[in-house]
Amino acid sequence: MRTQVGIVGAGPAGLTLARLLERTGIESVVLEDRTRDYAEQRIRAGVLEQGTVELLRDAGVAERLDREGIVHGGIHLQFDGERHHVPLSQLAGGRSIVIYGQTEVVKDLIAARLESALPLLFETAVESVDPERGVIRHAGGELECDVIAGCDGFHGVCRGSVPDGVLQIFEREYPFGWLGILAEVAPSSDELVYAHHERGFALLSLRSPERSRYYVQCDPADVAEDWPDNRVWDELRARTALDGWTLEEGPVLEKGVTPMRSFVTEPMQHGRLFLVGDAAHIVPPTGAKGLNLAVADARTLAEALVEWYGGGGRDHLDAYSETCLRRVWRAEQFSYWMTSMLHRTGDDPFEQRLQLSQLRYVTSSEAAATSLAENYVGLTTMA
Ligand code: PHB
Repeated sequence: MRTQVGIVGAGPAGLTLARLLERTGIESVVLEDRTRDYAEQRIRAGVLEQGTVELLRDAGVAERLDREGIVHGGIHLQFDGERHHVPLSQLAGGRSIVIYGQTEVVKDLIAARLESALPLLFETAVESVDPERGVIRHAGGELECDVIAGCDGFHGVCRGSVPDGVLQIFEREYPFGWLGILAEVAPSSDELVYAHHERGFALLSLRSPERSRYYVQCDPADVAEDWPDNRVWDELRARTALDGWTLEEGPVLEKGVTPMRSFVTEPMQHGRLFLVGDAAHIVPPTGAKGLNLAVADARTLAEALVEWYGGGGRDHLDAYSETCLRRVWRAEQFSYWMTSMLHRTGDDPFEQRLQLSQLRYVTSSEAAATSLAENYVGLTTMA
């Protein structure tokens, strides 16, 4: 088999890229080692930047997103027993964020791909890729490609196929994780609440008017079984407590631990292979940037491929890493900053005082709040 662009992985990165290529007449084959069910059920992030929404709209896959997505113009930061509103849209030139699960984005992209009757092969494990020759070896044979898009996530095979010594890795692990639940209960807060607390960080998010998505900082070695429902609710209540406000509880539909890691590989390309999304970089979820970065990489690669196939040369293709890495490092810094400001990092009272001072600054200085806001909604200058 042969194609123009072989895409390894049917997550947001791979499916977005496939859709953008389809719109410009470039051929692709998407290979995914999991089942369709798995891809459509896995619960992940839920905050889309306006730029991400606009891209999905332009790609013709935002009909349900426009109907069901919930537009938010701000977030709350809670510390010292008080909740402070940060008016993101007001501070960031009217731009907003949309709450819509990554799982839903993936479902919409899969539906569009199948509707177009284009190749999307589930349960097709990729064994290896050859970045020089552009060959993908999988359980069913070989796929020859002009270009391979490695969209197979942090644990995928693509990054590992780059010869030793080519990639430089930048990495930071955090001494905590997030225990997340999806609960069948209306959100108790109108906007997201990021809470700093001496017991550890907590986050109140949502998926729909009937479903809430909540997180508590936990030990990185914890597993879901360490957190029976009542322990989760006790911690959520303690960490987000506020006079005159109650956290409504409901049946827990899903529960899992998310590790926290910062990771960047430089460059993000080698030979015919281009790494896209989590295969090239990971951010801790505190800045809500992971999905948005993946979609932005996909757009950068799609635009470079359109130029190249159109006879416009390979300058943009050669500059793919450099273009992406500017945005990636901005998101890395923002995510690291949000993470460091909000999590309990041990018993160091010095650290805790710095966090509280930073939180007071961000919620009282318009300049500081504006910096948070423009990073949170997505910097257009980095697009
Ligand atoms: C989520 O809704 O899953 C979510 C929201 C904000 C974050 C991370 C996750 O920073």
